[in-house]
Amino acid sequence: MNTILVGAQWGDEGKGKIIDVLTEEADIVVRSQGGNNAGHTVEIGKEKFILHLIPSGILRPGKKCVIANGVVVDPIALVKEIEGLEKRGIKLAGRLLISETAHLVLPYHRALDEARELRKGRDKIGTTKRGIGPAYGDKAARTGLRLIDLLQPKVFSAKLQARIAENNAILESLGGEQLSFPEVEKAYLEAARKLRPFIVNTVVWLHRQLETQKTLLFEGAQGTFLDIDFGTYPYVTSSNTTAGGSCTGSGIPPHRMDRVVGVMKAYTTRVGEGPLPTECPEVSDLLHGMGREFGATTGRARRCGWFDAVATRYARMVNGIDELAITNLDGLDSLKQILVCVAYDLRGKRLLYPPNDAEELLHCRPIYRKFQGWQMPTTDVRHFKKLPLAAQRYLTALAKLTGARLRIVSVGAQREQTFRT
Ligand code: IMP
Repeated sequence: MNTILVGAQWGDEGKGKIIDVLTEEADIVVRSQGGNNAGHTVEIGKEKFILHLIPSGILRPGKKCVIANGVVVDPIALVKEIEGLEKRGIKLAGRLLISETAHLVLPYHRALDEARELRKGRDKIGTTKRGIGPAYGDKAARTGLRLIDLLQPKVFSAKLQARIAENNAILESLGGEQLSFPEVEKAYLEAARKLRPFIVNTVVWLHRQLETQKTLLFEGAQGTFLDIDFGTYPYVTSSNTTAGGSCTGSGIPPHRMDRVVGVMKAYTTRVGEGPLPTECPEVSDLLHGMGREFGATTGRARRCGWFDAVATRYARMVNGIDELAITNLDGLDSLKQILVCVAYDLRGKRLLYPPNDAEELLHCRPIYRKFQGWQMPTTDVRHFKKLPLAAQRYLTALAKLTGARLRIVSVGAQREQTFRT
């Protein structure tokens, strides 16, 4: 059974944790899009791991992990992550494979990301400033450098020199900082030495694994509404975060995918700018007061709101979600009443799916259905039937409104605080 796991909201749905749980049933975990803008958190006992580029499956001994062609790789950040895991006793040799055709994130991508955000002022996207947009921009413009280039120092240096000259001119016009070719060259070639043993043709490698009946699990990063095509454009990331991105980002054809699991929180959050129809200061205050909903990559406070079934219904449609994992149920434990958005009102018209124009979405008013809260802790519950009745009803309604089967519930950050329904 090959599984694609996607975020059904605006990212930060708790995918890292659910991947960690599903990895038990898989042989290989694959990242196929995004870069180190992602921050997947897994807590095992007293230990907390935040992974940015390496699939969360690396925390399960014996499992293999792939950073496939659709990912944009910042080699310096990746080396840091590899060394950080090795220091904590996680063995990576022979377990981590990196695609030679994955594109590189270079320092001018980060500088451009930063300079463009600054220039936009109030209209900024609120990016993670990891250079993700400019790196994918270069890929589409056919001016990108790939890991395969990095392995050939002469080729890499010649291409890099030309790219730095061009990007320095652009940076100058944007008021950004200038980059030094020798410094970048040295740092990247040093990173190349460390990464070389991990770099392979992952397309051929993955297909060989399929021939021997190995099972794949695709670890989606970000979420449906940050997708470059289906998200709240332009307030999105620059890759396809939806299920189709797993195919183009890995070279595994669609008919080899057996199941799509959508992960969603029992409420809604978003980091960065852009519309969030159910945003609610009361929900933000509650969750921030509990010390949660701060970004794993940038530490920014996430914007919070009620569960938005208009969004998750659309996410089910574009991803083909079969099964749902609902996380953070315990975040709502203290509430007397919980709201769920079942439709939008746009100037008197009732909408069941979000409009494509982010400006229109800003004008959508949520139509809420009220649910009774359970007002007791759920963090120690390990069976659906042991949940308070109001929580059971709430979860059942979220799955029904979204249109997929509820399979996994998470009631805390720990690996054990998860159960199947
Ligand atoms: P970028 O991916 O850094 O270009 O950022 C574009 C938008 O996606 C911003 O709103 C970010 O906050 C958001 N974003 C990027 N990666 C993540 C993530 O892993 N979780 C949540 N939001 C993200």
